[in-house]
This record gives sequence, structure tokens and C-alpha cells, in this order.
Amino acid sequence: DFAPKNIIVTGGCGFIGSNFVHYVVNNHPQTHVTVLDALTYAGNIKNIEGLPEEQVEFVHGNICDADLLDKIVPGHDAIVHYAAESHNDNSIENPEPFIQSNIVGTYRLLQVARRYDVRYHQISTDEVYGDLALDDPHRFTTETPYHPSSPYSSSKAAADMLVRAWHRTYGTRITISNCSNNYGPYQHVEKFIPRQITNILDGIRPKLYGNGLNVRDWIHTDDHSSAVWTILTKGKIGETYLIGADGEKNNLTVLREILRAMGQPEDAFDWVKDRPGHDRRYAIDPSKLRDELGWRPQHTDFAGGLEQTIQWYTDNRDWWEPAKAETEAKYKRQGQ
Ligand code: NAD
Ligand code: DAU
Repeated sequence: DFAPKNIIVTGGCGFIGSNFVHYVVNNHPQTHVTVLDALTYAGNIKNIEGLPEEQVEFVHGNICDADLLDKIVPGHDAIVHYAAESHNDNSIENPEPFIQSNIVGTYRLLQVARRYDVRYHQISTDEVYGDLALDDPHRFTTETPYHPSSPYSSSKAAADMLVRAWHRTYGTRITISNCSNNYGPYQHVEKFIPRQITNILDGIRPKLYGNGLNVRDWIHTDDHSSAVWTILTKGKIGETYLIGADGEKNNLTVLREILRAMGQPEDAFDWVKDRPGHDRRYAIDPSKLRDELGWRPQHTDFAGGLEQTIQWYTDNRDWWEPAKAETEAKYKRQGQ
């Protein structure tokens, strides 16, 4: 197994990246983490506050900044690349930052990984595979062709292609993981589950896009973290692994679970305009990761995980309140 001593986590102040940093601190105290994050609207330094200073160092900077990368990357033995513009609705409004951060940013990191021969792990998404019909018996596997729909997912697909090319052409030691929809603490209030929870906490009716029958394959962010650690340390160089926890549910079902758990009537929400190009269904077949690397998800009780997440947003109003009004104002302008 590869035992990383000193890793760079890009986007470590965002939702999934910061949960990964907590995971490393809690489970692998021998690994030092340098967080590189530009603190965009989605990054929050509070997400990594209170972690031991001798294990976690923060560098405020942009992954597109080649000079900065040249300074900070030498001496590290791995890059785990989470940083990205992550929200589909934003990519539909303004694709530009998605091209910069997701494509150019990945290119810059690959160049520095190549120059200093640093192990590189790419965090990607199931959205690169496009969508499935509701009744399709198949799920996504590593053999499924790329077929992205949105500016966000196509920028992630482009980034994955660069990663594969750097491995084949330059021998850069890479792995890629494509994960399904994450939920848990520290997720921005623009995303589906936190938006609805914080709407209810603020006395705003939850908003459901289209007919609410779109399916997402939910996984707790801690299970994503353990999967990424498994791939980083045990994965085969050059390989892609799909991460999922058999969590398919349609949006209407998830919203009803939130309403019920928060003591609201089942119909206390608004139907709103659909997302343009809205993917119908995502579904991951995670058998390669399970069979080849022995990974298993721990948080298989979705209702329990959702209740913990509701509790977290209830207890951490100070964390999400500053972003809430602006986020809802933006959705309102979009009719959503
Ligand atoms: P997020 O939007 O919550 O966080 C992104 C982080 O990256 C922020 O801290 C932001 O400041 C930072 N960042 C953005 N651009 C940057 C740049 N140019 N330089 C440095 N830092 C920058 O995103 P998330 O939901 O935590 O997603 C993290 C990663 O996981 C992304 O690569 C995303 O594509 C992938 N992913 C997300 C999900 C999901 O369900 N959210 C599922 C699968 C994969
Ligand atoms: O599948 C992985 C992807 O999951 C990641 O790559 C993305 O970074 C992440 O943002 C997420 O993308 P989605 O578009 O699936 O997530 P989002 O939370 O935006 O929406 C989830 C579903 O809920 C989707 O079908 C749209 C719907 N939705 C969303 C919002 C914000 C609503 O019905 N109402 C809403 O208010």
C-alpha cells in the first residue's frame, strides 16, 4: 500500500474536501495535510477551523496559479484534487469560472504533478456519464461512455480526459474516482438537501424542480472520504473507480422525508421551473471498488443520516445564515 505522509488537498475548505480533511485527521494522524483553497463563495475557512495546526496547514490560493503550485507542491507525495466550481445551476447561468477552475485548474495541477512526480488523485462525478432512463436496468460502470449534459458536468468530463492523457503520455501516477450525490454537514445552502432544510428553518417553502421524479444516488460524505482514502492508498495507478452506496431516491421522496422529519405536512412545498437540460437519473455500480479494493459504505441508513444532517443545520445557523439570503435571491431571479 502507498502510505502518504504529506498530501495537498485542493478545495479543502469546500463541502466534500473539508469533510475529507476531517476524515484524515480522525483516522490517519500520521498524514500531514496542506489545504489549498481560493475561498470562493463556496469555500469557508470555518470548515477546517479547530483542526490540529501541526497536522493541517492552510494555503490561500488558486489552483490556476502555476507559480504558487511550483512553490508549494515540492515535498508533498500526493495531490488529492477536490477544488472545482460544483453547482450545475450556476454553470447554466455563467459557465466561465467552470472552464477556468475545472479544466484549466486541473491542467495546471497535472503539470506540477508531472514535474515533481507526485501521485495525483482526481475527484470526479457520476455526471460525466450523462443520465439514465428511470426504467433502465443498467447502472454506470467504468465502461459507460462519457456523455455529459451541463456546462458543469462537461467541464468535469474534460478534466478527467486530461488526467487520463497525462497518465498515458507522461506516465503521471494518477487515479480517478467518480462519485454520486453527497450529503452531510458543511454542504452549501445552494444544494438540494441543505436548501430545503434551511428553507424550512427560515419559514420558506421548499422548492422542487420539474415533476420531482429525477433520481439521485445519495451517499454520505464520510463514505466518499473513506472510498477516496482507499483508492489513494490501494488503488491501481491509471485506474478509475466509481463510488456509490446503492442510494437511489427521487427528489420528491427525499423532500417528503425532510418535511416529515421536520414536522411539516407532506405537501408544504412549491413546484418550481425545471432546470434546463435536467439529468433524469444517476445510478452507480460500485462493484469494482468493493470487489477489487474491499471498500464498504458505513452510512447505509439514509433516514438516520438525513436526521443527523437536519440536526447539524439546526445547530449551526451561524455557519449557513450569511449565505442564505443571497442564494435565495439568486434562485428567485431564475424563477426557482
Ligand atoms: P464545493 O463547491 O462545496 O467546494 C469547492 C471548493 O473548491 C471551495 O472551497 C472553493 O473555494 C474551492 N475552489 C473552487 N475553485 C477554486 C480554484 N480555482 N482554486 C482553489 N480553490 C477553488 O464543492 P463540493 O460539492 O465539495 O465538490 C468537491 C468536488 O467533488 C468537486 O470536484 C466536485 O466536482 C466533486 N463531486 C461533488 C459531488 C457532490 O455531490 N457535491 C459528487 C461527486 C463529485
Ligand atoms: O451527482 C454528483 C453531483 O451532484 C455533483 O457532481 C455536483 O457537484 C453536485 O452539485 C450534485 O449535482 P446535482 O445537480 O445532482 O445536485 P443539486 O443539489 O443541485 O440537485 C439535486 C437534485 O435536486 C437535482 O435533480 C435538482 C433538484 N433540485 C435542486 C435544487 C437546488 C430541486 O428540485 N430543487 C432545488 O431547489
